[in-house]
Formats: sequence, structure tokens, C-alpha cells
Amino acid sequence: MLHFVVVGILVLVVSALTYFGLDAAHLLPIPASAQAGEIDWMWNLQLIAMSFLFSLIVVPMFYSLIVFRRKKGDTTDAQHIEGNTRLELAWSAIPLFVVVFFAYLGAGNLADTIRPSQNAMVVKVRGLQWDWKFEYPEYGIATTELYLPVDKAIVLKMESTDVIHSFWVPEFRVKQDLVPGRVTELHITPNRLGDYKVRCAELCGTSHYSMEENVKVVDNEKFSVWVAEQQEIAAQREATPEGRGQKIYESFCNSCHSIDGSIIVGPSWFNLFGSTVELEEGAPVTADEAFLIESIRDPKAKIVRGFASQNMPAFTFTDEEVENIVAYIKTLR
Ligand code: CUA
Repeated sequence: MLHFVVVGILVLVVSALTYFGLDAAHLLPIPASAQAGEIDWMWNLQLIAMSFLFSLIVVPMFYSLIVFRRKKGDTTDAQHIEGNTRLELAWSAIPLFVVVFFAYLGAGNLADTIRPSQNAMVVKVRGLQWDWKFEYPEYGIATTELYLPVDKAIVLKMESTDVIHSFWVPEFRVKQDLVPGRVTELHITPNRLGDYKVRCAELCGTSHYSMEENVKVVDNEKFSVWVAEQQEIAAQREATPEGRGQKIYESFCNSCHSIDGSIIVGPSWFNLFGSTVELEEGAPVTADEAFLIESIRDPKAKIVRGFASQNMPAFTFTDEEVENIVAYIKTLR
């Protein structure tokens, strides 16, 4: 009986030490959304359960190894034990009950996190290899950074252009896949000002690791100023063909084509117009309007040397959009 009391006390002590040790390691980043509260509460409960189970196994094991080790000169067999129905029933029933209880808590927790809130602000999110794009239908703006007003319910309506991506800002805790051909939703109420990063949490190709973008949670005043700025920029762009072309570039092209001469995936657009381009097959060509239009419409027609292994997706741009893109490329020098 004394052994049980000692082991019981040791289990409790080691449980507490394990829990406080894990807690002190700060395994989670700071919480920055209303949804984080519930998730962190659940996480904490699991940490306590894990610490206890860990001790429940490890403490009796080491206690037995040390206290009941074979004494010097003792060559007798150990006592033979033939099963214990009560113990076996207990260690089947109790974990079953605990697991079902956790599932019940988890289901409630999940329901709370995905519950739509009244008058949430809609932000459309598009994931593509390998970048994020954001649109604010209420304000008629499209951006590459995600600005969110603090303490406002947000619903992200997310689509993918190509493969499966996953929207994840660790500080917001919640995470959701973007699946081609579907619109998935994610509910977030940011409640802490600061700069965060959205990263892609689904392996989506060679540059998956670099698929991240800034997320800024700002106060309402700053948000309004930012929206006004973005609307101003959008209005100016709409006024000229090259401006409209730049908008298309930022929505579709900039994850593969740079405008500063560097190579992301495809050829850079910097100093492209009018230059001489070496091809994989045949004589070099001049990058004139006809060549650029053909390359946008049918990327495989003339492949620039060194880019044979890259696959440009088939975009369905209108003639006017293609002209706008070419007009924009002409300005890049
Ligand atoms: Cu997108 Cu990984």
C-alpha cells in the first residue's frame, strides 16, 4: 500500500513539473484573435492531460526499475500474475470516457470557431503558386498585403487558382485549405494590433516555402486611411492602359515574372520590350508587341532559352487585357 501512496504522490509531482515545463517553453506564439482564446484553452487542457499520462507511465516504470530490482544473490523467479479483470476494465473504460469527453469539448470548440458572425467584413483571398492576393469587395480594392481592422469580425472567402494551398496565420490559430474549384471560408476576429505573416501550410510546389505575405492588424482610423489610399491608387491605375496592365500584373503575373531583372520563375519583364531574346529553338527574336502577345496567348510557341522546364498556366485574358499588359511591359526599363 505504501508503494501506491508514494507512486501516486510522485505521479502528481512529475505531472505538475512536466506541465509547467511545457508551459514555460511557450509552444504557441502570442494569441491575436478572438478565436485563439478557445483554442488555447483547449490546448492547455490537452497539455495537462498529456503531462498526467506521461507521468502515469514513466513514474511507475522507473519506480519499479529502482525499488523492485533483483536483489544481489536472489535467483528465484518473480511472482506469476495471471491477469486482472477489474484493472483491465478500468484501463479500457476510463480512457474511452476521457477521449469521448475531449471529442465533445473539441466539437463545441470547432463549432464556435467556424460560426459565422453578423455583419462580418468580407475579404476575398486567392492563393496561387506562390503568392497571396486579397480583394475587399466592399471597398473595390485589390491588394498584395492583408490589412485588417482590429476587433472587427472578418470572413475570408478563399479560392485557389491552381493547387491546394492553406491559409495560416499562427497568431490567429485557425487554419483553412484553399481548394481549386471551391470557395472555403475562414472566420477571424483579430483582437491585437501588430504585424503578422500569413504562410501557406500545404506543400504546393517548389516555392511553397516562400509563399508568405504581410498581415497587418491596425486600428479603425489607420484602416480607413489605408483604404482611401488604395482606392486612390486603384482609380489612378484605371485611367491608363499601362496602369490597368500593372493591376493585371500584380494580380496574376508577379509571382513568376519580376520587374527588376531578377528571375523568380519565368523571364523578367525588366528591359524586355525591344530586347533580343534567345530561344530554346531557332534564331533569336526581338521582343516586340507580336512576340509578347504570342507569348501571353501561347506560352509554348516560342520558349525563351533556359525556361523550357517552366509551365506557365493558361490565362484567359481578353484582347484588351493583353494590350494593357504589353503597354505595362513597355514602361519597364
Ligand atoms: Cu501554397 Cu504551399
